[in-house]
Amino acid sequence: MCGIVAFTGTADARSFLLAGLARLEYRGYDSAGIALVQPQAASQEAGSAGGTGAVLEVVRRKGKVASLVEAVEKSGVAGTCGIGHTRWATHGVPSEENAHPHCDCSGRIAVVHNGIIENYAHLKVELIEKGHVFASQTDTEVVAHLVEENYEAHAGDFTEAVRATVAQLSGSFALAILHANHPDTIIVTRNDSPLVIGSYEGGAIAASDTPALIDKTREISYIRDRDLAVLHSDGSIEFFDPAGEPFTPAIYHIEWSLEQAEKGGYPDFMLKEISEQPRVIRDTIANRFDRKTCALQFDELPLTDEELADIDRIYVVACGTSYHAGLIGKDLIENWARIPVEVDVASEFRYGNPIISTNTLVIAISQSGETADTLEAVRLARRAGAHVIALTNVMGSRITQEAQTVLNIKANIEIAVAATKSFLAQVALLTLLGLYLAQERLLLTGAQVREIYGEMKQLPGQIEQILSDTAAIEAAADACAEAQTALFIGRGVGATTCYEGALKLKEISYLHAEAFSAGEIKHGPIALIDPDAATPVVAVATQSSTRDKMLANIEEMKARGARIVAVATEGDERIRELADHVIYIPPTRECLSPITASVPLQLFARFIALARGCDVDQPRNLAKSVTVE
Ligand code: M6R
Repeated sequence: MCGIVAFTGTADARSFLLAGLARLEYRGYDSAGIALVQPQAASQEAGSAGGTGAVLEVVRRKGKVASLVEAVEKSGVAGTCGIGHTRWATHGVPSEENAHPHCDCSGRIAVVHNGIIENYAHLKVELIEKGHVFASQTDTEVVAHLVEENYEAHAGDFTEAVRATVAQLSGSFALAILHANHPDTIIVTRNDSPLVIGSYEGGAIAASDTPALIDKTREISYIRDRDLAVLHSDGSIEFFDPAGEPFTPAIYHIEWSLEQAEKGGYPDFMLKEISEQPRVIRDTIANRFDRKTCALQFDELPLTDEELADIDRIYVVACGTSYHAGLIGKDLIENWARIPVEVDVASEFRYGNPIISTNTLVIAISQSGETADTLEAVRLARRAGAHVIALTNVMGSRITQEAQTVLNIKANIEIAVAATKSFLAQVALLTLLGLYLAQERLLLTGAQVREIYGEMKQLPGQIEQILSDTAAIEAAADACAEAQTALFIGRGVGATTCYEGALKLKEISYLHAEAFSAGEIKHGPIALIDPDAATPVVAVATQSSTRDKMLANIEEMKARGARIVAVATEGDERIRELADHVIYIPPTRECLSPITASVPLQLFARFIALARGCDVDQPRNLAKSVTVE
């Protein structure tokens, strides 16, 4: 949901800002813009405003960062202090006038913002009454005008003006603010929106996410809600809490490298991330089983044996793909640990009335660790007394600061908007957690756990095998690429695997797709099968306790003219007689099948999206991190 960048230093700010925005483009790509402070007017670009001394130059464009880069090069603007933004529109249509940065009336203050200023309407009325003139439909613009007001009220003290402004805002925000009267300084702040801050020998920098900073520094800091960080061009940074008290934040080391944030020879991030899955599963499950004690280890979990035994209910809260991982986790935990599990979409959970006690365990799943609804669900659960486990890919993210326990999936940075490797890692970690809870509650023996863990160690090799020959997947995708709608069916964990398969397909190819439990299809959805269109039905029919039922369901679909694409277990010859396309995957036990069966579904979605000419990494209307409600 929008990416912001800020640079003040001794080098050219433009290259940092534009490269940073390109790396944050996964957060939104409706429009983009930068503002630079220049010692003297140097550009005719709309938005520049002069006065004495330094001036502010603003360049904005509708569309992706590439069009901004072109415009910036043409404009000739330059400077060593600047801010930038790539937008996912919330207030006001995607247009140049609504693109950030937004300025005050004097054109000397510029602001970029990620989030939503919830009280903007009221603030705007007040500011208009005071004579301020607005140039956009955004909520953000009020911030620039408020800083202008407060700057005057605080006799030109920029830091105090921003501090007073922040106190007037409600909602979520990460802000970077420039003032031409302070040409070497940028002030950044946040509330419920991500922001990382760092410095290096060339200056001080800040951004919505680490990929924008990684080529300058791997040592970063976070600030708490409503803190301010004042960035100076010599690389020094002053940190202030909301009361204006200075503090020194902790420094975190970024584990991954710039190469990992780049495509590395792959045509798109999605394929790169799908291809990384064998490594991701290997890392996520590594070192969890202690051969000496013949037991799984979850040292991160601080719960005592007694507390574990007392858990009487688990809630899983998450959104989108992470929610689907939770549905699979439910099946496994209930089967093995015999604890009732409810999986809730976080946006519903936070406004519901969940039954929570001190014996309730809440597992909040979020790849980014920044999803607004999931964070709010965590807060609600903690207030109600539950122990909250965050299962996330981003250490240091907001969720890691709010939950009592953090379990880290080892997917490393995921850039494609469509989650792939993080999903597989979430499912793998939930599988281990289910086994661990069963082990601790004495429902599985050490030998049983060891056997399943041993089979999990085969998963990376099995995924490699699927990735080594994708011809059948591509052929099935080619045959389905023109369809108007596609159905996905499965049973048990096969059905939940289908929910994720259908989401992948619709989000990147815009082909309407829905997933159903195969047993439900006769109760309505079967009406969607159009023999003239040979409606694709993707059936996950791997070896399982309900495989024969699946075959019967496939026959029913086939009889009504569907085009059947089956994901089946190697050696299953019967399915060849029923399906138009069979994608074979290596045999696994049923509880592990979501991990292997999801891989062909990811590739199927990608092949269809490419055949339909879609941008698989940056699908329309979406953004990687949904940091607003
Ligand atoms: O970062 P999170 O896991 O909290 O994100 C949740 C969803 O927004 C995310 O999974 C979304 O559904 C992806 N586009 C799925 O590919």
